[in-house]
Amino acid sequence: MNLDIVVLAAGKGTRMRSGQPKVLHKLAGKPLLQHVLDSAQKLSPDSVSVVYGFGGDQVKEQITQPDILWVEQREQNGTGHAVAQALPGLANDSKVLVLYGDVPLTLSETLTGLLEKVQSENSIAVLTCTLDNPDGYGRMVRNPDGNVVGIVEQKDASTEQLLISEINTGIMVIPAVLLKKWIPELSNENAQGEYYLTDIIQLAAQQGISISTHQPKSELEIEGINSRTQLARMERIYQQSLCDKHMDQGVTFLDPSRVDIRGTLTTGIDVTIDINVVFEGNVELGSNVQIAPNCIIKDAFIGDNTQIHANSVIDQATVTENCSIGPFARLRPGAELADGAWVGNFVEIKKSKIGEGSKVNHLSYIGDATLGERVNIGAGTITCNYDGTNKFETIMKNDVFIGSNSSLVAPVTISDNATVAAGSTITKNVPKDALGIARGKQRNVENWKKR
Ligand code: UD1
Ligand code: MG
Repeated sequence: MNLDIVVLAAGKGTRMRSGQPKVLHKLAGKPLLQHVLDSAQKLSPDSVSVVYGFGGDQVKEQITQPDILWVEQREQNGTGHAVAQALPGLANDSKVLVLYGDVPLTLSETLTGLLEKVQSENSIAVLTCTLDNPDGYGRMVRNPDGNVVGIVEQKDASTEQLLISEINTGIMVIPAVLLKKWIPELSNENAQGEYYLTDIIQLAAQQGISISTHQPKSELEIEGINSRTQLARMERIYQQSLCDKHMDQGVTFLDPSRVDIRGTLTTGIDVTIDINVVFEGNVELGSNVQIAPNCIIKDAFIGDNTQIHANSVIDQATVTENCSIGPFARLRPGAELADGAWVGNFVEIKKSKIGEGSKVNHLSYIGDATLGERVNIGAGTITCNYDGTNKFETIMKNDVFIGSNSSLVAPVTISDNATVAAGSTITKNVPKDALGIARGKQRNVENWKKR
């Protein structure tokens, strides 16, 4: 059977008290709905429909993944009504997996286990969970033989049914033909005046359709987000689980409760990560990388044995092996450090290559520049790369020495083994082995009377 996935995401999320739809709130830097879509994608579905309502434009703007069938539900009249809006997009011979846009951490393995239970048009499957505190959830009602015969919502349940601890997670698999037959039969005569998707379970039981259940490994997989408190709690638990995986791979966190991984982090072994480090996007760390406190590292590659000192910010940069960065360094997009390069405190590097063993140790701006090997940049050196309209390049070849507080007005080339005298404003190329000196001459006025 084909697989069609329907993600219910029309709810406003009143308890978030937010101008943006709940499913766009972020867990580990990624919208809740995107987490769900990413696990859905792992199942290689034939189609994915997202039922949206409140803030639909914002949702479509932020979830840019192609191939989504966007289905509008103008009024939120219940989960059955939500699925009804998606019915026209479902193939008759497919099985339909219903997911919730605000339940972000369901593992694709769990969903695969659930999907395996539906092999024909005569069976459906519900993901359930047995909870110590089932409060608020729909309860699974079973007959004395243990077969599921229905789901009763908390608000419609009898005192006896409220004692049932097996709950409906809301995630289920139903053949499309059955959905198309049963959805139009749903009624809204219940405590909430809504069309409940869960009422199809009773119809299935009455019509002799087999109803299987499957449970996730952890309760976290089925937890929905309704408030910012729940979101913050889930964030910490999720972050801890990410850190646990990295620790198993040979990473030391000085305190895993004070690190955030918002994206994909891959690491070698013997990596040490101090507190308050934030990783965003795709970050790859080699072995023996050390990261001091308060660093932000986004979409970057950091090679083996590199040390990143405190308070450094690295964004879309490539740093190879044995480098030293910071404290207080900023690598901006397009910064590339070759083996053994050093970038020290209060240095900003943008779209520049720093060659092997080269050093930019203090208070410098290097932009649109290419540095060869063993270049030494004195404190306070600035590449003047911008004339207000265009950007220009600065080239420094091997073994160049730039004296402190120099301005290199691009476009300009400093050739091999050349030296620039401290305090120079260099506007012309400096040839190989030469000294470039461009500064006002000092004049001393003798016996100067102080005011
Ligand atoms: C639902 C289930 C309940 C289950 C619980 C699990 C029904 C009737 N009840 O209850 O058995 O234990 O989830 O969390 O299905 N949504 C729409 N359109 C609507 C209504 C809801 O898109 O008109 C979406 C919501 O955005 C949400 C999901 O469906 O993602 C569930 O809706 P919610 O209102 O939270 O259902 P519950 O009452 O919690
Ligand atoms: Mg709910």
